[in-house]
Amino acid sequence: MCGIVAYIGEKNAYPILIKGLQRLEYRGYDSAGVALLNGKLNIYKRKGKVSDLIDFVGENNVDGTIGIGHTRWATHGKPDDVNAHPHISGNGRLTLIHNGIIENYALIKKALEVEGHTFNTETDTEVLVHLIEEIQTREKLTLEEAVRVALTKVVGAYAIVVLDKEDPNKLVAARKASPLVIGIDENGFLLASDATPIIEHTKKVVYLNDEEIATVRRDGTFEIRTIGANEIQTPFIHELEMQIERLEKGGYDYFMLKEIHEQPTTIQDAMRGRLNAVDSWIKLGGIEENLEKFKDAERLIIVACGTSWHSGLIAEYIFEDLARIPVEVEYASEFRYRNPVITDKDVVIAISQSGETADTLAALELAKQKGAMIYGIVNVVGSSIARLTDAGSYIHAGPEIGVASTKAFTGQVTLLTLMALSIAQKRGTISESYFKKLTQEMEQIPHKVARVLEKCNTQIEYISGEIKNANNALYLGRGYSFPVALEGALKLKEISYIHAEGYPAAEMKHGPIALIDENMPVIVIATNQSAYEKIVSNVQEVKARQGMVIAIVTEGEKEISKLADYSIEIPETEEPLTPLLSVIPMQLLSYHIAVMRGCNVDQPRNLAKSVTVE
Ligand code: F6R
Repeated sequence: MCGIVAYIGEKNAYPILIKGLQRLEYRGYDSAGVALLNGKLNIYKRKGKVSDLIDFVGENNVDGTIGIGHTRWATHGKPDDVNAHPHISGNGRLTLIHNGIIENYALIKKALEVEGHTFNTETDTEVLVHLIEEIQTREKLTLEEAVRVALTKVVGAYAIVVLDKEDPNKLVAARKASPLVIGIDENGFLLASDATPIIEHTKKVVYLNDEEIATVRRDGTFEIRTIGANEIQTPFIHELEMQIERLEKGGYDYFMLKEIHEQPTTIQDAMRGRLNAVDSWIKLGGIEENLEKFKDAERLIIVACGTSWHSGLIAEYIFEDLARIPVEVEYASEFRYRNPVITDKDVVIAISQSGETADTLAALELAKQKGAMIYGIVNVVGSSIARLTDAGSYIHAGPEIGVASTKAFTGQVTLLTLMALSIAQKRGTISESYFKKLTQEMEQIPHKVARVLEKCNTQIEYISGEIKNANNALYLGRGYSFPVALEGALKLKEISYIHAEGYPAAEMKHGPIALIDENMPVIVIATNQSAYEKIVSNVQEVKARQGMVIAIVTEGEKEISKLADYSIEIPETEEPLTPLLSVIPMQLLSYHIAVMRGCNVDQPRNLAKSVTVE
C-alpha cells in the first residue's frame, strides 16, 4: 500500500506529482505529502486526502523541477501530519518516500539513537532516511552508494525514492517486494508505484526488479545496479499499452459504478482471441505452452486473497466439475505460513488483480521453491506476480481504480472458466457437445451482463432504499452460487460498513438461522438448476422466521419469486456460468446502499487497493 511518485526533468514537478498522487490514491489515502527542491527544500504534508494537501499548499511556493510525493496507508504510526511522508534525515539533507515496511526498524533506531540521532515520528521510514544519512556522512559515500549500503542492512519490503538537497540533478530509487516503475520521458524521468501517473507523459517504462537500485539524472542518463552485488543491469524498456481514458471516471459518479458498467466489455476483452465457439476451441498461451503440466497435474492449488479468493472458489467448482482435477483454494496468508505439502506434480495458480498482494507473492515464492509450476491470473501488466510466475494469463480488464473489486472479479472468473474448459477438453473429461454448448454460452455472457445492468439497476436501487438502514445482512447460495454469496457479503461490508455474512444456504440451519428476524435482509442467490428444490426450502425456512428475502432468480422463475419479498431476475445461462451474471446485482446493491449511506464508495475507510504489506 501507499503510493509513491517522483519527478526530475525540465517541467514543473508539483502538478506532475499532484496528478500522480491522485492516480495513486487508490493505494492509500490517509495522508499525503510532497517535497520540492528549488535551491530551497519545501516539504508540505497533511493528514487526509490529496485534495486536503492541495488546499494546505494553497499559494505557497511550489517551484522546482525535481520533487517526490507520497499518499499513505498507515502501518507504523497513526495517520497524521507528522507521520505523513516525505520524511527527512536528521541533518535535513535527505528526503525520502517509502512504500512497504522496514521490519527491523526498531533495532536500527536504537543503534542510531546511540549515535545521537533523534526522531520526530513513529514511522519505520524516518529510521531508514536517518540510516542512509548516517552511512553517507560517516563513510563519505555518494548518495546511491549510501542507499545501497543502507539497504543491505534492512529487512522488509520497500519501494523508495531519495532526494538529496545538495544534488538537485539526480534521484535515487530502489525496490524490494514493493513495486516501482520508471518512466522515461523526453525531458526527464517519472518514478511511481505503478504506471498510471506515467502514462500521460511517456509510454516508455522500466520495471525495477527486486533488490535493484536506480539513479536517474537530469541530463537524461540513468543506471540500475543490484543492491547486493552492485553489478550494473541492462534495463529492458517496455512500451505501455494502457489507455488514458480508462483512468478517468468518464461521466460516472464513482469509478466503481463505471467499472461495474464496463463489464460487458471487459468480459469480452478477457475472451478476445482466446475462444472460438464455432470451431470449438479455446487457446490460452500459457496453457498451450504448459499443456503436459496441466494435463498431468495431480492437484491445482489456488492462492489468493479477498475477492480474488472468491474467484478461486468458483474455479474450484468449475475445475472439479469439468476437468476432474482436485483443487484446493487457499488464503495466501495462511498457506505461506503453514508448511503446506507441495510437490512438483502440483500446479499453483495465483489470482490477483493488482499482482502486488504481499501474501500472494510470498505464497508463490514458497510454491516455486518447492518445485511446483506457478501460474498467474493477473490484471496489472508487468506487476510483481506476473513477473514471478512461470506462465500466466492477463485478464485485460484495464485499470481497476475503485477499491472494491468488480470488473477484475468477472475477468478472473471468465479466464478461469476458459482455463477449466480448455484443460477439460484436452483431458477428455468433457463431451464435445457440452464443450460446444458452454463455449457458445460464454460468447453470450457479455450481452447478458449488459441486460442485467440495463434491466435490474432501477429495481436494485429501490431495494437498496428499503434495506439501507439494516445493521446486518445474510447472503446465501448453494453450489456455484455459494462463492457469489461470499462476494456479495464482502462487497456490502467493505463499502457500506454494514456487517454481512455469506453462507452456503444449507449451513444456515447450523447456526446463522438464530439471527433471522424481520430486521435481517437475506439475499439468496437462487439461480440453481441443480438442487433447486433445496434452495426453495431454504427460502421457506427464512420466511418462516420473518426474514426479508431478496432473491436472485432466473427469468421466468415462479416458486421462489412467490415466497420472496423481492426477486431480481437475471437471464438464464448454463449453471457453471451463472456467477458471471448473479454477481452483478450483488455489486449494484452494495454500490447503491453505500451511496445512500453517504459512504465514499471508491475509497472506503481503512482499505487500500493494493495490499503490499502482510
Ligand atoms: C475486495 C478487494 C480485495 C482484493 C484483495 C486481493 O473488493 O478488492 O479483497 O480482492 O485485496 O487483491 P488482489 O486481487 O490485488 O491480489
